[in-house]
Amino acid sequence: MNVEEFRKYGKEVIDYICQYGTNIEERDVAPTLDPGYLKKLLPADAPQSPESFKDVLEDFEQKIMPGVVHWNHPKFFAYFPSGNSFPSVLGDMLSSAIGSIGFSWASCPAAAELETIVMNWYAKALGLPKAFVSDAPGSTGGGALQGSASECVLVSLITARARAISELKGQTSVHDSVFLPSLIAYASREAHSSVEKATKMALVKLRIIDADEHGRMRVDLLRQAIQNDVNAGLTPFFVVATVGTTGGCAFDDITEIGKVCRQVSSIWLHVDGAYAGNSFILPEMRVFSAGLEYADSFNTNPNKLLLTNFDASALWVRDVMTLKSALNVNPLYLRHEHLNGVDYRHYGIPLSRRFRALKLWFVFRTYGIKGLQEYIRNHMALAKKFEMLVRKDERFEVRNDVHLGLVCFRMRTGDEPNHMLLAQINHSGKMHMTPAKFNGRYVIRFCVTYEHATEKDILDAWSQIKCFAEEILRDHQLESSSVPTTPEGTERTSSEPMAPVAGKPPIKKKLTRTKSLRFSFTRSISREQYQSQSEHLMDGCTPILVVDPKTLQENFQQAADENDRNTNNGSNGAISSPNKNGCTKLKNISDVDTDEGSN
Ligand SMILES: Cc1ncc(COP(=O)(O)O)c(C=O)c1O
Repeated sequence: MNVEEFRKYGKEVIDYICQYGTNIEERDVAPTLDPGYLKKLLPADAPQSPESFKDVLEDFEQKIMPGVVHWNHPKFFAYFPSGNSFPSVLGDMLSSAIGSIGFSWASCPAAAELETIVMNWYAKALGLPKAFVSDAPGSTGGGALQGSASECVLVSLITARARAISELKGQTSVHDSVFLPSLIAYASREAHSSVEKATKMALVKLRIIDADEHGRMRVDLLRQAIQNDVNAGLTPFFVVATVGTTGGCAFDDITEIGKVCRQVSSIWLHVDGAYAGNSFILPEMRVFSAGLEYADSFNTNPNKLLLTNFDASALWVRDVMTLKSALNVNPLYLRHEHLNGVDYRHYGIPLSRRFRALKLWFVFRTYGIKGLQEYIRNHMALAKKFEMLVRKDERFEVRNDVHLGLVCFRMRTGDEPNHMLLAQINHSGKMHMTPAKFNGRYVIRFCVTYEHATEKDILDAWSQIKCFAEEILRDHQLESSSVPTTPEGTERTSSEPMAPVAGKPPIKKKLTRTKSLRFSFTRSISREQYQSQSEHLMDGCTPILVVDPKTLQENFQQAADENDRNTNNGSNGAISSPNKNGCTKLKNISDVDTDEGSN
C-alpha cells in the first residue's frame, strides 16, 4: 500500500469508525453464532497474491463484524467496561504508526520519558501514597505500564518471590528453587483468577481465604492462616487484596490486611484495583484506598474505567530497585550509554513494549481529571438508579453493595430461573450481561460500561429484563403476585418470596444456552480449586515438587548430601536443605497488634 492509498483508505476507515459509533445501537449487542462460524466463511490458506484493500474492508463488514460483540454498545452491561474513547484510539493509532519498540530509553526516549511522566500524573490523580510517585521527594517507587492486570499480578508475585527467597537463602549458595515449596501466597475467595494463575506459573502455594457476606476478605482468617503457616514452617510471602472484586465489586479492607502483613517481614502486599482502583480519581471514593500506604504494589486497568483502550494496565511499586533486580537481564545488545535514562524492559515480562503512554497522555489531556471524574460519577449514578429499580421490585434482589458501576441482582427464586433469565437476555441480542457467584449465590452482573450511558439506557434495560423475567415466571409457573408496569418499577403487593406453585409440573422450557457447571469469566478463584482443596489450600507447584512431606524431606536430604559432596569436590553445585535457613526471619504473629498505625 503506498502513501496515497493509505491516505484514501485511512480516511475511509476513520469514516467507518465514526459511522460505527454513531449507529451502533442499530446492531445487536452480541451475536448468537455457533463456534466455527468464521471457518465456514474464510479460506483455509492465506492468499498467494495481494488482494485489494477494498475487498478486505468489504469482507471485514460482511464476515468479521457479524461475529463481533460490541463492548461499547449502550446495552453492553457485561464484564467491566472496555475503556475506549476517540482520543485514546487516536493516541493508539499514532503509537502504531510510529511503531517504536520502547524497551530502553535509547530505543525510544520519548516513550520512556512520557511513560514516567504519565504514570506520575496518574498516581497523583488517584491520590496514591507518595511512595509510588517517582518524582516525589524521597520516593524510591514508581510505575510502569503493563499489558494486563494479570501481568501486573504476576510481575508483583515474581518480585515478592525473589525478595523472599533472597531473605531465606542469605549468603548461602543454595539454589533458589529449593525454597519454592516453603513459599505460600494468600488471596480471598473473591480475588481474581489471575492470582491463581500467577501462583501456578510461579510454582508456589496459594491459600484461599474466605470472604465475609459483603465479599471482603476475612482479615481474622488471613491472620490465623498466616500464623498457622508460620508455625508449620512455611514462608508467607505474598498477599493480594482487591479493591473492586470481579464478582461483586467488593473492597477489601487494605488497612487491616496491611497491618497483618506488616508483622511478617517476608510478606509483599499487592493491591489489585483493576477496575475500581481508577475510581480513586474521585475524592469521595478514597475511603476505599485508605491503607494503600501498607501496599508494596498496586495495579489498575485504565483500559477498564479510564476511557483508555486495551491494552493498558498500570503497576506501581514502592521499591523500584526490588522490582528491577527481580527481572533484570542485561545482554550487551540492549545496553546503551545513557545510564540515567529509564529502561522499562526491567519493569515487566516482555522485552518489546508498545508506546502505550501516548494514548493515556491523550486521554488525560483531552478529558482532564474533571472530565474523567464526571464520566465515572455518571456510571455510579446510573448503577444506583438500576439498583433502586431492582430493589423496588420485590421479585428481585440486589446481592452486592453498590459503590461503583456494578449491580449484582437475581430473581428471588432458585438459581435455575436466573440461569434462564440470563440466557434470555443474552439470546435476545439486545443486551449483554454475565453471571457470577457472589457470596454463594448465582447472580447476574449488570455493569454500566458505555461511555455516554444515559438514564434511558438503564430504564430500557430494566423494562426488558422485567419482560423476560415475567415470561420465565409465567412459563415455569412460579408464583408472583404482581407485575410492575412502569419503568420505575411498582411495589410488589405480596411480601412472600416467589416459590414454585405446589402440585404444578416442573420447569418445561429448555435452556437455549449451555449451562456450565463452571463459573463464567467473572468467577474468581475457581470453584473446583476452592472446593477440592482441604483447608482451602491450593498448591500451584507441579506434581514433581508436590509430594508428601516425608518424600519431600528425603529429597531435601538427598539434595543436601549431593551438595555437600559437590562442595567437598570443589564443584559449585548449589542445592542444599532449606532447613538450614528455614523461616527464621519470620516474626511470630500471634500477638499482632492490629491497632498499630501505618507509617
Ligand atoms: C479485579 C480484577 N483483577 C484482574 C483482572 C484481570 O484483568 P486482565 O484481563 O487485564 O488481566 C480482572 C478482570 O476483569 C479483574 O476484574
